[in-house]
Amino acid sequence: MDWRSWHDQYDRPDSSLVRRLRAVQAQIRAALDRSPAGPLRVVSLCAGQGRDLLEVLADHPRRDDVRARLVELDPRNTAFAEELVRAAGLHQVEVVTADASLTDQYRDMAPADLVLVCGVFGNVTDADIERTVDACTALCRNGGTVVWTRHRGAPDRVPLVCEWFRTRGFELEWLSEPDAGFGVGAHRFIGAPQPVAPAARLFTFVGYDVLRRTEEPAGDG
Ligand SMILES: C[S@@+](CC[C@H](N)C(=O)[O-])C[C@H]1O[C@@H](n2cnc3c(N)ncnc32)[C@H](O)[C@@H]1O
Repeated sequence: MDWRSWHDQYDRPDSSLVRRLRAVQAQIRAALDRSPAGPLRVVSLCAGQGRDLLEVLADHPRRDDVRARLVELDPRNTAFAEELVRAAGLHQVEVVTADASLTDQYRDMAPADLVLVCGVFGNVTDADIERTVDACTALCRNGGTVVWTRHRGAPDRVPLVCEWFRTRGFELEWLSEPDAGFGVGAHRFIGAPQPVAPAARLFTFVGYDVLRRTEEPAGDG
């Protein structure tokens, strides 16, 4: 999978990925709107080109309150994100070319007000989805929001992901309709954040194309 050209779907206005992007951005905007006054922290796991967060921050009233870390492995995508950051003058946004599955990337940013896990759950095993949801209890502050995605193709894991969040102390804020053509969820953490486990690996990014060979047809992640 070429994860740079994967993002080209965002340039096709009729693609379901663009509709997914707009849904994610609406949840990011809503989370920022309801955040308490003062400094805010945002982390994005497997951030890609960062269009979801950066396009919202560009003109959001809280933009200068936000310190963010975007972690993405492909340097072509981080270069794209860096350019968005520069163009928007977002001085507290850090784009890191690194392995987002490692908890050490987030230890000094946790617990964050907003955690983005978009384009991950469709590309990792069920055990790794659950491990990552579990880690959100350390990555997310009390009252903070996790925005996540998962395709709705078979096996449709969205109900299970919601259940995993529920059992970890998250309340469902919003979920896309089953027939939307994508899956986007926003969960608010009502529990007490746990310490981030040092030097832990949350997932192995297998890729939906590889997973599809071992499961039923997947989707866009
Ligand atoms: C499906 S894309 C999603 C990108 C972005 N979050 C979005 O929703 O637009 C998945 C991204 O994860 C990146 N990726 C894969 N494995 C990674 C890893 N171990 N650490 C960081 N990024 C990774 C890929 O390069 C790709 O840009």
